[in-house]
Parts: sequence; structure tokens; C-alpha cells
Amino acid sequence: PSSYSITLIPGDGIGPEIISVAKDVLVLVGSLEGIKFEFQEVLMGGAALDATGVPLPDDTLSAAKQSHAVLLGAVGGYKWDKNEKHLKPETGLLQIRKELGVFANLRPATVYSPLVDASTLKREVAEGVDIMLIRELTGGIYFGEPRGFGTNENGEEIGFNTEIYATHEIDRIAHFAFKVAQKRCGKLCSVDKANVLEASMLWRRRFLAIAQEYPDVELSHMYVDNASMQLIRNPKQFDTMVTNNIFGDILSDEASMVTGSIGMLPSASLGASGPGLFEPIHGSAPDIAGQDKANPFATVLSAAMLLRYGLGEEKAAKRIENAVVDTLNRGFRTGDIYSAGTKLVGCKQLGEEILKSVESNVHAG
Ligand code: NAD
Ligand code: IPM
Ligand code: MN
Repeated sequence: PSSYSITLIPGDGIGPEIISVAKDVLVLVGSLEGIKFEFQEVLMGGAALDATGVPLPDDTLSAAKQSHAVLLGAVGGYKWDKNEKHLKPETGLLQIRKELGVFANLRPATVYSPLVDASTLKREVAEGVDIMLIRELTGGIYFGEPRGFGTNENGEEIGFNTEIYATHEIDRIAHFAFKVAQKRCGKLCSVDKANVLEASMLWRRRFLAIAQEYPDVELSHMYVDNASMQLIRNPKQFDTMVTNNIFGDILSDEASMVTGSIGMLPSASLGASGPGLFEPIHGSAPDIAGQDKANPFATVLSAAMLLRYGLGEEKAAKRIENAVVDTLNRGFRTGDIYSAGTKLVGCKQLGEEILKSVESNVHAG
């Protein structure tokens, strides 16, 4: 049997609750599919700040780098919100993404049919939506220099950041996105702000050049303001989307709501080599932390992405995804996706129901 080392980073807020569910699911799927996991749990974010004084301890980074894949809950919370930038939980997250070189972030927005009524959009608009949003993750305004605080010519305090993309950063995410689109419907929509921003102008120019190498993919371009409107107007027009770091951050939260809740969207962050980082797209949800209210599906689905993209264990990945659909079909819901006629449960109980579905291995449609 295959054997893998997995770094678990529960993090802050609801992080420990959702990671605990996802870990149980991995253990069960592993035992049923003949895969052995060795878990190492490490600190990041606020939990690491409290214990060690830094948001990304060296031990955490080296454990992550030495493992086959990293599964993360979420980081952040009120307690650390006023910290200086280098002492913020979120800085630890940005550091680990950069250190692992995971420049490509896959954020699938899939409307599961039992959840159509949880979407805030009309049934006919939401039904059947299946978008793969690819977010560039290690460049752009998140990392651009110069950045900081200063003073302008009037002596007024300023804060500034730089949206910047080098050709090689655009080219590698473009190749990644074209390859994903090739395996899906062959339709790729690149979202930018090329009517205003130079970084987007270069982005668009490089995508047009690289498109020549993928004649089987139909490339389109859309400005981000229009794209955010089109996602709500008619999300089914999209198949594979690709965009920069900050637009991808915003559009993925928006796309999540089409599917019913931000608690449904998983992600996979991949680099050219080395371990991938797998995490739900949502945050630490401090407003519901410790109350057993968190939706663990996004994290469980991130564990499925870990199996598929991180370890190449497609069968085990599919088994988890089938279990998610089966759990939904059996009516179990956390509060964020509850609708009349379904069964409201907490995070823990939902986890137990997912385990039952993994065990029974009903094949979803
Ligand atoms: P958030 O995603 O944590 O929460 C937004 C809203 O969605 C809240 O009402 C929350 O209760 C709800 N929600 C989120 N996930 C849920 C789930 N699984 N089940 C049910 N409801 C869920 O965003 P925020 O409130 O803007 O940020 C809170 C903290 O999380 C901040 O410190 C932020 O920096 C951090 N954050 C971390 C990550 C990450 O670690 N990847 C991502 C986003 C935000
Ligand atoms: C996300 C989060 C992070 C981001 C924050 C917490 C740094 O919002 O993963 O979507 O902006 O990338
Ligand atoms: Mn975000």
C-alpha cells in the first residue's frame, strides 16, 4: 500500500473543528482504499504567534516542505488583527504559499444538485454551475514592491502597494490554466483590468501569445468588474476562469455564494514541484468559532483535492466527493446551507454522517 506524510495545520477559529473532520475522513478513506497516512500537526497563524511569537515557525515550514502534502484549516482572528504586519496570522499564510512556490490556486465552484435551494440565486440560474476558477497565488499586489507606509508631499500619511507581474509569472499560470481548460470544456476566460492597469495589459498580451500553443482552447477575456456581474447574472457561461491574485481572492468568495455557501469551496495550491497546499477558501470564521456550527465540507473537499492533485490518488478522491454528495442527499446540513425540509446538524455530527457515507460508498451521479 502507498504511504504518505501529511502536514496538518488546524490554525485558528473554526480551523481545528474542520480539520478534525477532514482528518477522520482521510483516515477512513485511507483504511478502505489501502493508503497509509502519517499525520504531523503543526502550528501556524495566531496559534503559532501565541506559542512561538511568529506566524510561521521554521519547524512548521520544514515539516510542510518535507511532507507529501499540506492540509490547512484557516488562520486569523480578532485577537491579532491589530498586530504589525509581520506579526499577523495572515502573513504566515502568505509566507508558506510563497515558500512552497504554489503559484496556481484551483478554486472549483460546483453547485451540487441537492444544494440548489441553498443558493441565493434562482434555481434556474444556479443549477448545474461548474466553474474552475484559477487564481494566481504568489504574485501581484499581495507581494509587489514597493509597499508600505509613508508620507506624501502634503505631509499626509499614505499606505501603498504595487500590482506587478513579471512575464514568467504570467506565462506559468497561463500554461497551467490552458492545460486545465484543455481537460475540461476547452473554454478559458481570462479576467483582468487591461483597460486601466499595466500589469493587466501585459497579462492579456501574454495570454494571447501563449494561446497560439493551445489551438484547442477557446480563450476569451473579460474585465473584472463585468466578470463579477456576469457571475451573478449567468454563471453557467463560465467553465475555466483564470485571474490574478487579488481578483481571484474576491471572485472566488463571490462564486462560492452561487453554490450556496462559502463553506462549500475547497482549494488546491500547486507549484512546479514539491508538496501542494490544500485549504478551504473561507477564513477562520471567528463569529462562529468554537460553537460547532462550521461547515466542514470545504475542508473535506480540500482533502479530496489533496488526494487527487497532491498524491494522484484519484479513486480515493472520488470516494470522498461521492460521500459529500451522499451526505447532502441524505439531507444533512450545517446552518449556512440549511433550507426547509433538510436536517440541521453541527460540524461534528456532519462529520460523522460523512464518515457513514464514505463507508457505504454510494456512487453519486
Ligand atoms: P471568513 O471566511 O472567515 O467568514 C466570513 C463569513 O462566512 C462569516 O460570517 C463566517 O461565519 C462565514 N463562514 C466562513 N466559513 C464558514 C464555514 N465553514 N461554515 C459556516 N460559515 C462560514 O471571512 P472573514 O470574516 O472576513 O475573516 C475572518 C478571519 O479569517 C480574518 O482574520 C481573515 O484574515 C481570516 N481569513 C483567513 C483565510 C485563510 O486562512 N485561508 C481566508 C480568509 C480569511
Ligand atoms: C484566502 C484568504 C487569504 C488571501 C488571506 C487570509 C491572506 O482571503 O485564502 O482567500 O487573501 O489570499
Ligand atoms: Mn479570500
